[in-house]
Amino acid sequence: MTRQRIMSGMRPTGTLHLGNYFGALENWVKLQNEYECFFSIVDWHGLTTGYEDTSEFRDNIMEIAIDWLSAGLNPEKCTIFIQSNVKEIAELHLLLSMIVPLSWLERCPTYKEQLSQLTEKNITTYGFLGYPNLMAADILIHKGNFVPVGEDQQPQLELAREIARRFNYIYGDTFPEPQGKMTKIKVLPGLDGRKMSKSYSNTIALSDSPDTIREKIRKMITDAEKIKKNDPGHPDICAVYAFHKVFSEETHQETYEVCKTGGIGCVQCKKTLAENVVRYMAPMYERRQKLIGNKKIILEVLIEGTRHAREVAKETIEEVREKMKLMELE
Ligand code: AMP
Ligand code: TRP
Repeated sequence: MTRQRIMSGMRPTGTLHLGNYFGALENWVKLQNEYECFFSIVDWHGLTTGYEDTSEFRDNIMEIAIDWLSAGLNPEKCTIFIQSNVKEIAELHLLLSMIVPLSWLERCPTYKEQLSQLTEKNITTYGFLGYPNLMAADILIHKGNFVPVGEDQQPQLELAREIARRFNYIYGDTFPEPQGKMTKIKVLPGLDGRKMSKSYSNTIALSDSPDTIREKIRKMITDAEKIKKNDPGHPDICAVYAFHKVFSEETHQETYEVCKTGGIGCVQCKKTLAENVVRYMAPMYERRQKLIGNKKIILEVLIEGTRHAREVAKETIEEVREKMKLMELE
């Protein structure tokens, strides 16, 4: 029996943080044991909003590969590849663009939101409008059955399903309709309580050293009404407590009670949290130390993964060309 396929990707836009980890990566690491997995470094998607400055593009690809491997992706179990090196994706993107109504792309909430938010960049481009179509090509080229991504990606995934359905309807059954696979933690808050995001500068990066983590947590702002150590606190609105819920599985309930009754001060509470986070991230930190400075190993993983991803992509594109009755000369 062939295993069902998982397909997912991330843009190489700099170092990953714990939000990316809990929103997606943690899940990927588990899924690689059960499914045939394809994980793509989607550099073309990176271009849609970052085409003006590509100076760090190559470094960012190496960086994200290190992040993935230190988070626990194992190239023996999954395929890690660079999107722009699987050119069949570009061909599928072009072919799909023939059948995707413009209105589907224009009404995509992520598109509308980014247009209104990223006002400092000119993203009123053809490529940016086609972002979800390119994402659909990513998923469909490997006939992904499941796509593990965070909640924010659901509208684009829905579009990928609609595109698959439309293709199947016009040219005959070809693609499975890709389903989402959510993680338990939908949105990880950042150091300031808002969603953890690079654009808010409230992140803990996967590459942060234990001391950096301690320092970042020490500076976290807690409940403004808990001034003295013995003042009762409000854990429900405190970013530190939100982190305890994730990192202090066994003790967070107790922390909740003692905070509420003023039995613990914020300084102590943050120290305990910092040690729990450092302990949680220690295996990642160790794997990273072995990888940095070993560019060769990382390149080998990418070359081998991309070769395999391309083989599978070629099979799909041949089938698509056949179904669409494109002329083959050889
Ligand atoms: P991005 O870097 O925003 O493109 O996100 C890459 C992946 O990480 C996507 O699957 C997001 O859903 C997920 N993600 C990013 N930030 C968070 C967060 N704070 N909480 C949960 N998931 C996140
Ligand atoms: N849009 C996704 C994000 O911003 C990245 C992405 C591109 C992706 N292609 C994909 C995710 C295919 C899953 C499957 O995180």
